[in-house]
Amino acid sequence: MEIMVFFTLLLLVCSVSTNQTEADNEIVDQQISNQQPCPQDIHAVLREMAVSLALQTERITVLQKENQDQAAKLKEMERQKTDINQLKLQSKEQAAKLETEIDQLKLQSEEQVAKLETEINQLKHELQVKQVAFSVSLLDQGYGYAGPYNTHMTLIFKHVVTNIGNAYNPHTGIFTAPVRGTYHFDWKVYGNGNIPAGAVLFRNGEYIFIAYEHPTSGWVSASNGASLLLEVGDQVSVSLCAGAKIFDNQSHHNTFSGHLIFTM
Ligand SMILES: *[C@@H]1O[C@H](CO)[C@@H](O)[C@H](O)[C@H]1NC(C)=O
Repeated sequence: MEIMVFFTLLLLVCSVSTNQTEADNEIVDQQISNQQPCPQDIHAVLREMAVSLALQTERITVLQKENQDQAAKLKEMERQKTDINQLKLQSKEQAAKLETEIDQLKLQSEEQVAKLETEINQLKHELQVKQVAFSVSLLDQGYGYAGPYNTHMTLIFKHVVTNIGNAYNPHTGIFTAPVRGTYHFDWKVYGNGNIPAGAVLFRNGEYIFIAYEHPTSGWVSASNGASLLLEVGDQVSVSLCAGAKIFDNQSHHNTFSGHLIFTM
């Protein structure tokens, strides 16, 4: 543009300087065609301008090309920026999702640990409870008779040899099941003279079996055993039969034993 203006101005200057008469014009035309120097030598100027113009055009072309390249690069960068933003968003979402999952897993594992602890404690308790065995005899010192009485009388075996699990009470003579299961019991009584020696095994007041002997003279003993399914809290004891009489001393003739065989 500037070049065009300059060019026009130049022409104007040349024409003003020569625009005096038509004759003058002819002279000027002649001068130009003869390549006589115009005051400014217009042909030389035009050549210079043409060269300059060509250079400028070339430069513009280069700049345009650079501009296009830059525009393409910019476009590509914008596309990449969009991609990056999308990726950022995706990774944020995934991070949030992962955090949620981790929290859930934490919660689950905490719950499982608590559950396992509870189970372990239960198993420990059961294991402790599962160890049940006792063996006792009637007198813990001296000697003496028990009976006869008009009714059944619970025998309190005071001499404790074994009482694992403390399920037998030496103050009441009663065994209480600490866990549901099958238990085995044995008992034996010892007497003399012509009076019966006998004792009955009871579960919760229910008559189970009897051990009984009726001597006419001398010493006799009677024994029996039973396996019972007991619920937790069931009570088992041995009662002297009504009218029976037994003797015990430190030889420990009258005994009562019980064991848990297995839980159920
Ligand atoms: C216990 O009594 C029986 C029967 O009378 C007798 O044989 C035994 O020697 C007595 N035992 C003791 C330790 O006194």
